[in-house]
Amino acid sequence: MKLLKIILLSAIVISLLSSSVFAAGDAGRGKILFNDPKLGGSSFGMNCNTCHPGGKGLEKSDGYDRKNWRSCSGEMKSLEDAINNCIVIANKGQAIDPGSQKMKDLVAYIKSLDKKSKKNAAKKKKTNK
Ligand code: HEC
Repeated sequence: MKLLKIILLSAIVISLLSSSVFAAGDAGRGKILFNDPKLGGSSFGMNCNTCHPGGKGLEKSDGYDRKNWRSCSGEMKSLEDAINNCIVIANKGQAIDPGSQKMKDLVAYIKSLDKKSKKNAAKKKKTNK
C-alpha cells in the first residue's frame, strides 16, 4: 500500500514537472512539426515547409502588432487561426487545439523566424559597408 502511494505521488510530481518544463513553446520542436506531413492527422503528404520553405514569407507573422493574417483561405484574426487554417485547407488535416503544446511550439518556431531575419539583415548591413 505504501509503495503504491509512493509510486502514485512520484508519478504526479513527474507529470507536474514535465508539464511546467513543456509549458513554453519550443522553436526546435515547432520546426519538426513544421516539416511533419502528419501534422493534424493528415495523410495528404503536404507539410508547412512545402509552401513555406524554411519558413520563408512568415518572418513577419509573429505579429504582436498584427490585427489580421492572410492565411490559406482568407483573413484570420490570430496567428493560431492562421496556422490552423493552413493545416485544414492546405495540409488537409484537422485543426489542433490553439492552447496545445504543438500550437505553442509552432508559434515559437514562427516567432524565431523574425529574429533570424533581423540578424541576417544586420549581417547584410555590415558586409555591405
Ligand atoms: C499549399 C500551400 C500551403 C501549405 C502546405 C501551408 N501554407 Fe501557410 N499559407 C499559404 C498561403 C498561400 C498563405 C497566404 C499568404 C499570402 O497570400 O501572402 C499562407 C499563409 C500562412 C500564414 C499567415 C501569414 C501572414 O503573416 O499573414 C501562416 C502563419 C501560415 N501560412 C502558416 C502555415 C503553417 C504553420 C503551415 C503548416 C501547418 C502552412 N502554413 C502550410 C500556403 C500554404
